[in-house]
Amino acid sequence: KELVFSGVQPTGNLHLGNYLGAIKRFVEMQARDAQCLYCVVDMHAITLWQDPEALRGQIREVTAAFLAAGIDPKKSIVFNQSQVPQHAELAWIFNCVARLGWLNRMTQFKDKAGKDRENASIGLYDYPVLMAADILAYRATHVPVGEDQKQHLELTRDIAQKFNTDFGDSIRAHGHGDGFFPLTEPLIGGPAARVMSLRDGSKKMSKSDPSDNSRINLTDDSDLIAQKVRKAKTDPDALPSETEGLKGRPEADNLVGIFAALSETTREAVLQQYGGAQFSAFKGALVDLAVEKLAPINAEMKRLSADPAHIDAVLADGAERAEAIAAPTLDAVKDIVGFVRRG
Ligand code: AMP
Ligand code: TRP
Repeated sequence: KELVFSGVQPTGNLHLGNYLGAIKRFVEMQARDAQCLYCVVDMHAITLWQDPEALRGQIREVTAAFLAAGIDPKKSIVFNQSQVPQHAELAWIFNCVARLGWLNRMTQFKDKAGKDRENASIGLYDYPVLMAADILAYRATHVPVGEDQKQHLELTRDIAQKFNTDFGDSIRAHGHGDGFFPLTEPLIGGPAARVMSLRDGSKKMSKSDPSDNSRINLTDDSDLIAQKVRKAKTDPDALPSETEGLKGRPEADNLVGIFAALSETTREAVLQQYGGAQFSAFKGALVDLAVEKLAPINAEMKRLSADPAHIDAVLADGAERAEAIAAPTLDAVKDIVGFVRRG
């Protein structure tokens, strides 16, 4: 049976890349006959220092964005990571499975640690192991994410595989067949797996870009969305009529990809309609489309934010249901590795 898991960090400035690359696809997964778990990964957030009061607000804001985008907390399990202790417990066991060499290859750590690597937190380095624990505590089979998480999902599979072989005899002895953990499939794709900055087509749209004009935030109102789209960097040529013509034109490619994702179609179909158009006209259509799709989410986020007690209740209910799945996994893992259990 399919089990879907994904996570979003509560680090502020949820943007169009988070929406199109992840949250919108979380909503689509709900239609499949699968249990879906969507987690606000607060323990990942603190791998870089967060102001405590701001962090509490951001956890609730990401939760509100999930709900506003259409995640139904009755169908899906919506919760925050720190309320389910099995994530941290399994991460420790995986720390003893994952190899230093594997983590040394993680490009996101190199990017986030920057030049002053000696001063990066151990948590930032260990981040992908906690992510593997998030996924495998539920033995999730599918993980929808943006392109930037591909390497972390490969590591998750490596950890699952090594655990399955390192403890193969014990896994069989405890009646779990040949493999305890699944080799989780990443679900990366669609026209917006990697949404780029509106100011620079070679950089991905990111929460931490100092220029607010580089991204459309889910909290931006319609005027601000219009302004940012109109200011988005483009080249002087008209739109091509085939995707071939987007090669070497990263800004054009990005806007066409955003349009395709928002209208649930493909780049090809967008270019069939807009091939030959000038950017001024295309941007006008993109503003209308973006406002049409994002304004209701924005309004619902605002409405939900006025009632933090409701958000907290959703998270508490989600944590209880998540723990009911993760606790038996951890019980089995502790037996498999040879811990003596409390009776
Ligand atoms: P984060 O904010 O880093 O926790 O990311 C949450 C989700 O959004 C992950 O699945 C990311 O892969 C996805 N994501 C973040 N930035 C982008 C982007 N620029 N384009 C597409 N997906 C993104
Ligand atoms: N690392 C992911 C990101 O920054 C967030 C994340 C944490 C995640 N744990 C996860 C995503 C488990 C998918 C599955 O985007």
